Formats: sequence, C-alpha cells, structure tokens
Amino acid sequence: MLELSIHVLDIVQNSVAAGATRIEIHVTEDLKRDLMTIEIIDNGKAMDSEMLDKVTDPFTTTKQDKEVGLGLALISQAAKEAGGGLEVKSVPGQGTTVTASFMLSSIDRMPLGDMKSTILSLVFGSPEIDFAYVHKKGIETCTFDTRDVRKMTGGQLFSDARTIRLVREILESQLEKIRAK
Ligand SMILES: Nc1ncnc2c1ncn2[C@@H]1O[C@H](COP(=O)(O)OP(=O)(O)OP(=O)(O)O)[C@@H](O)[C@H]1O
Ligand SMILES: [Mg+2]
Repeated sequence: MLELSIHVLDIVQNSVAAGATRIEIHVTEDLKRDLMTIEIIDNGKAMDSEMLDKVTDPFTTTKQDKEVGLGLALISQAAKEAGGGLEVKSVPGQGTTVTASFMLSSIDRMPLGDMKSTILSLVFGSPEIDFAYVHKKGIETCTFDTRDVRKMTGGQLFSDARTIRLVREILESQLEKIRAK
C-alpha cells in the first residue's frame, strides 16, 4: 500500500465487522518528538487475550472462507519500517484500540494520504455508525464528529447531495487548520 489512509480504511473495517457503533480515528503529528501516531478506537465486541496475542500474525483471521488476515499484519509492518510499531489493546465488552506509530521524518514512512475521502467513504459507507476524526498537528487540531452532523440533519445521515456537501464542507474547513502553510 502506498498511503497510510488505505491502512486506516482497512483497520476501521475490522471495527465495523466487530459491530462497533462508534469509531474514533485519532491522528497526531508531534513535530517535536518526530512522531506520528494513528489510533483507531472502537466499542465493538473486541477480542480475548488468546486472539490478541496472535492478532498481527498474517495467518490469524476469524473471517470465514479466508486463511489469511492481513490488515493488522500490514499496518504493523508499515509502522516497523518507519521506525515505529503497533499496539493493540482489546477488552471484551468494551472495545479495541489499535495504535500505530511512525517516525515522522523516516523516508520509509508512507504519506498519510487523502483523509477527506477516507472519512467521507467511511461515514456514508456505514451511516448507522458514529465516526469521529481528530487530527492534531503541532498546536492545531482538526475535529469532525458525525454526532455534530446528526444534530444538524435531525439524526439521520442519508447520502443525499445536501448531506454529503455538508460533511465535505465541514471536513474541508477543519482540515484547512492543519494544512502546511
Ligand atoms: N477491532 C477489532 N475488534 C474485534 N476483533 C478484531 C478487531 N480487529 C481485528 N480483529 C480480529 O483479528 C483478526 C485479524 O484482523 P486482520 O485485520 O489482521 O485480518 P482480517 O480482518 O481477518 O482479514 P483482512 O484484514 O485481510 O481482510 C480479525 O479476523 C478479527 O477476528
Ligand atoms: Mg481486517
């Protein structure tokens, strides 16, 4: 994969498959510590400790008709190549947090990629789930939460032109805050 946002899509699919009703994506670019972290937090059914121990193994999957489970193995590899690593915490009945870290300046760190399209496709691909996106870069913070959008649309997130435009505009104005000047 060429962009971290593709990994984000993949890891969020695990949360969707685990029945999460809320998924938060936190990206932090800490320029002083030369560190980028991507955290995906869900309230899905989670995993027991036996599963957790082998979850980054490419041969670990609970998907039917599949023998390999690559999502976590691939992001773990991408993080290690960029001087970082992967941590997965999971508490049955509470949820799962996946944290990938990368050395910001590593030449082997993939670019983050198109987070606007990533969030749009997640939000309208699973309109029943609440998504939050918090991206911190230095002292600036971009925040987006479908709970706020629901307040404006009366609860539903129909993929009609008006709602898609609204979400896109909120994301664009928030992402502008962290755009390199
Ligand atoms: N957020 C999560 N909540 C609960 N279980 C999870 C979560 N993430 C991963 N798992 C478990 O870990 C397994 C491995 O995940 P991984 O993403 O590496 O592969 P996969 O989803 O099975 O297959 P692929 O990602 O290649 O389509 C999953 O099948 C699932 O059982
Ligand atoms: Mg997966």
